[in-house]
Amino acid sequence: MQSKRILVTGASGLLGRQIFKTLKTRTSWTVQGTAYSRASEKLLRFDLTDLQQLPAFLSSVAPDVIIHSAAERRPDVSMRDPEGTQRLNVDATAAIAGWAGGNNAQLLYISSDYVFDGTNPPYQEDDDTHPINDYGRSKLAGERAVAAACTDHIILRVPILYGSVERLDESSVTAIAAQLLEAAPTESIKLENWAVRYPTLTDDVADIIRQLLHSVNHTHLHGIFHFSGEQAMTKYTMGMIMAECLKLDQTRLIPDNNPPKGAPRPQNSQLDTSRLNKLQIRQQTLFERSIAEILEKHQSYSQSNL
Ligand SMILES: NC(=O)c1ccc[n+]([C@@H]2O[C@H](COP(=O)([O-])OP(=O)(O)OC[C@H]3O[C@@H](n4cnc5c(N)ncnc54)[C@H](OP(=O)(O)O)[C@@H]3O)[C@@H](O)[C@H]2O)c1
Repeated sequence: MQSKRILVTGASGLLGRQIFKTLKTRTSWTVQGTAYSRASEKLLRFDLTDLQQLPAFLSSVAPDVIIHSAAERRPDVSMRDPEGTQRLNVDATAAIAGWAGGNNAQLLYISSDYVFDGTNPPYQEDDDTHPINDYGRSKLAGERAVAAACTDHIILRVPILYGSVERLDESSVTAIAAQLLEAAPTESIKLENWAVRYPTLTDDVADIIRQLLHSVNHTHLHGIFHFSGEQAMTKYTMGMIMAECLKLDQTRLIPDNNPPKGAPRPQNSQLDTSRLNKLQIRQQTLFERSIAEILEKHQSYSQSNL
């Protein structure tokens, strides 16, 4: 296997940390990662919105491949802070793409199912986009900046993610478990039952990226790809599974059939994954199995730190 130097941005985040770990442990490539507030001795601290220093920073690392995962990914925060979201999700992405395009590097950009409005699923890669919130618009603008500045690019769209967490509220999936654990023992807990989501394990996304980058050596892959978990769920149905894992009374959970408050969300932005499937690039872990492991690991970690 040809040796590659890979740089993962956002390697302290939910997805980036798993991409960093998978590529470090399952390939022979040289892998480096960036972080911002959570930099450690393993990760390079760099503010990607510092556009003046960004080209020199990237030249100092000189990656063959950049996996750009860092972003503001919370729709409500993007709604409150569109300028900050623009700086990180669009301007920094455009600058990274400009550097990659000018230095013969490949860029793999992580995007989102929120580029679609959720009215006509499932969505194929070339379907019309129509984001309905600031976050989705910023991710689409990021995609366009990548395509404009860097010929050698892959845009990987993924839906709601979950995986190993430092805190349960780090992903909106495990945040449901936090809500269940924080409620008083007899309290009823209302959970949104309006949007159909496809929770996707970060370990699976990281492995898909590994496979995509390996395939590049054989067939040069390029353009937009969709990857998604296959199980359709609402936050309520995810909550029922988590309540069982946590041995909580499921009858306390009440489905709420209203749309969530805050930034508008697509009701069903299911991603069609047949393009990856045709290339035999696949990886699926069952939600029931992985969420039980994640919650168990998190609970024993929290108890050992009491
Ligand atoms: N999470 C989801 O459900 C979901 C769904 C669809 C698509 N996505 C996409 O997946 C990607 C990864 O999301 P995630 O869930 O891993 O996000 P996350 O957990 O919120 O992590 C965000 C990452 O961005 C870094 N970052 C923030 N501001 C920065 C700055 N100014 N300079 C440098 N780095 C900065 C953070 O670093 P520090 O923490 O060290 O500050 C962190 O590593 C994003 O592109 C997102 O749009 C996520």
